[in-house]
Amino acid sequence: MKTVRIGLLGVGTVGHAVARALLERHDVLSRAAGVSLHLQRAAVRDLTRPRPLAREQLTTDPMAVATASDVDLVVELIGGEEPARALMTAALAAGKPVVTANKRVLAWHGPQLAKLAAQRGVELRCEAAVGGGIPLIAPLTDDLAANRITELRAIINGTCNYVLTRMAQGETLADALAKAQEAGYAEADPKDDLEGVDAADKLCILVRLAFNAACTPAQLHRQGIRGLDPKDLAYGRELGYVLKLLAIARRGPGGAVEARVHPAFLPADHPLARIDGAQNAVHVVGDLCGPVMFSGLGAGGDATASAVLADVVQVARRLALGDPVAPPRDSGPEAPLLPMSQVSTRCYFRLAVDDVPGVFAQITKVLATHEIGLASVIQREPGKLGAAEVVLFTYAAPESALAAAEAELAQLSSTRSVLARIRVESSK
Ligand code: HSE
Repeated sequence: MKTVRIGLLGVGTVGHAVARALLERHDVLSRAAGVSLHLQRAAVRDLTRPRPLAREQLTTDPMAVATASDVDLVVELIGGEEPARALMTAALAAGKPVVTANKRVLAWHGPQLAKLAAQRGVELRCEAAVGGGIPLIAPLTDDLAANRITELRAIINGTCNYVLTRMAQGETLADALAKAQEAGYAEADPKDDLEGVDAADKLCILVRLAFNAACTPAQLHRQGIRGLDPKDLAYGRELGYVLKLLAIARRGPGGAVEARVHPAFLPADHPLARIDGAQNAVHVVGDLCGPVMFSGLGAGGDATASAVLADVVQVARRLALGDPVAPPRDSGPEAPLLPMSQVSTRCYFRLAVDDVPGVFAQITKVLATHEIGLASVIQREPGKLGAAEVVLFTYAAPESALAAAEAELAQLSSTRSVLARIRVESSK
């Protein structure tokens, strides 16, 4: 084989960067692959927009590209669930390797697609699906293979991290989101960012790789950043914490894996606490390697194209050498997921209460009933509305106890409202 002919599905932000790099870095990429990489065809939505390809290479029919007889390798960058899933399925069924950045399809249909790829003896690669340009999939698959991963904590939604970084400087969520949208970090529907959907899709992919746990995003506990108040960020800062949208997975004592996405206070000295703006980072603890962190640009055309092209080079090199695709690894029995009610975390509560004697006695009684220890307290005198504000940081307790305590705290005669409940992560 002298040339590997690439069929590109989608020429949006990432597709455009991939197409441009294939042309401008043709020599470097082809040398790395050991074969000439040729962008043969591309499927676009709108034929009138300027593209780094000749008109005769373009079509609005992505299925024609996915199954074209003159395409050796399909790169799927359309995003979203359908038709991307159907296109990848058709390409794999036609015996074509697929490189994709599609977190949604991989999170929901990854195992089925991987099975189809294995049956057809072709590769399905997805380095760009999580963390944009940060190498994550290959390190978790290969470089850390000797480890039993005990914990993974990650910032994998650039939009939320950007918004929270700006909220910590006093900006409102709406203003910060508008800037993230302008910069092109946000999903087509920013609800997917703000409600943690994007992060849950990505965590699902990482949990399968790092913990060999069978899961779909629907099984993960998910909470987004809507409703967070800059006040919570300020209180956290007073006690040495930074607020992040975290994706967390941890192996429990019985082998079950907890996996969740939610806002969390992190000690300011944790490496993830220093990840600001649209940056992403994944902090992994292996039983041999200890803690390692991967960080960098989690979104954007060029950064994501870097990961896509790494996969393209790998596949093309194998095609050029005529090497067979390695069979799927035997990862052993899959780990179960731990129900969220059994997950234990520290917690932050912010309450508006009447400024009357005995309030604290009532609050501490509720916490004691649920065996929740109190670590720190902040109390503010009543403001104009006449309610005092109480902030509690607890020691670790199961989610079921924390939820029950929240409901009871809300019912106390002295409580006006429970304004926030946010989980707190420890340094280790
Ligand atoms: N909307 C995503 C983010 C884009 O903000 O991280 C990259 O997957």
